[in-house]
Amino acid sequence: MTGETARQLLARIAWPAILVGTIGLALLAVLAGRGAASAASQPIAFSHRIHVENAVQCLYCHSNPMRSDVAGMPSVQLCVGCHSTIATERPQVQALVGYWERGQPIPWQPVVEMPDFIFFSHQPHLGAGVSCETCHGDVGRLNAASRVIEMDMGWCLRCHLDQSEETVGRLTDCLTCHQ
Ligand code: HEC
Ligand code: HEC
Ligand code: HEC
Ligand code: HEC
Ligand code: HEC
Repeated sequence: MTGETARQLLARIAWPAILVGTIGLALLAVLAGRGAASAASQPIAFSHRIHVENAVQCLYCHSNPMRSDVAGMPSVQLCVGCHSTIATERPQVQALVGYWERGQPIPWQPVVEMPDFIFFSHQPHLGAGVSCETCHGDVGRLNAASRVIEMDMGWCLRCHLDQSEETVGRLTDCLTCHQ
């Protein structure tokens, strides 16, 4: 499956007519692939691994994916709920409490972000039983969240093409993701 080239993928959606022309060329440039993993430098050295090993659930901190289009980032208040008592002697926890005392949000840098012209929502995916790890990799074992999986159009399409016959037409329709 992953061995498929961009051309083969597009052929499977059967719209060769559209492919001819500039759109097709732009598309192939996108599908040709980008750099692999990237990690953003964050204002606080937050470790997913430490928290997940301490049994804090993904949805405890990213609590919106079923209710809205975004998974949502945890508030400083949520962090301080534990860190007013846990590990208060650590410099990074003190820096965290500093944001709280100044009433400032922590300016987390986005790691995975779609361009504005893409429509993506967590809701249908979690509803269909796709796990966080399928798309984000094993974040729970990382210190800094990074873009382990390159989320380009080929990646979206490969999975959408694997869905049931009744839905595959809708899931590969340009307007499902491009609005
Ligand atoms: C449910 C409780 C809980 C929440 C919520 C929580 N933490 Fe923690 N945090 C912990 C525990 C437990 C540890 C490990 C403490 C230890 O090692 O003794 C920890 C450790 C840390 C450390 C120290 C890591 C190190 O290198 O020693 C930092 C920094 C930190 N958390 C930041 C945050 C931030 C930022 C948030 C909010 C996004 C947050 N935590 C939310 C429980 C929590
Ligand atoms: C204690 C709170 C906490 C828990 C638990 C937690 N996260 Fe996070 N997550 C954060 C914080 C804070 C950031 C921003 C810092 C960073 O990118 O590392 C973040 C960033 C992310 C990002 C990158 C978002 C972006 O900006 O693009 C993803 C993806 C993610 N988390 C997925 C998960 C998954 C999957 C789990 C469960 C395995 C999980 N998180 C558990 C707090 C948490
Ligand atoms: C089908 C793939 C897929 C699944 C499953 C998935 N994500 Fe995401 N996630 C994405 C994509 C794509 C983005 C970028 C969205 C954007 O920029 O519009 C994203 C963005 C995020 C972000 C940062 C932006 C935001 O929405 O707040 C967090 C945090 C996150 N995901 C956490 C999670 C967690 C936690 C789970 C499991 C409960 C999960 N994701 C499941 C694909 C997925
Ligand atoms: C691992 C598999 C997988 C990946 C990767 C994936 N999707 Fe999906 N997507 C699904 C499934 C399964 C559904 C739900 C199908 C259903 O409703 O039966 C879905 C549904 C959707 C829907 C809702 C369609 C509708 O009309 O209900 C949109 C929009 C969507 N995906 C966009 C994206 C985008 C954009 C990406 C890439 C950034 C992506 N998906 C990556 C599996 C995936
Ligand atoms: C399942 C979701 C999905 C479907 C269906 C889809 N696309 Fe995309 N498309 C994407 C994503 C995601 C990107 C952005 C990729 C990136 O940033 O690497 C993209 C990027 C593009 C771009 C590049 C735009 C730019 O400026 O970078 C073009 C052109 C494009 N798509 C055309 C199409 C056409 C034509 C169709 C219908 C045959 C289609 N797409 C169907 C998800 C989808």
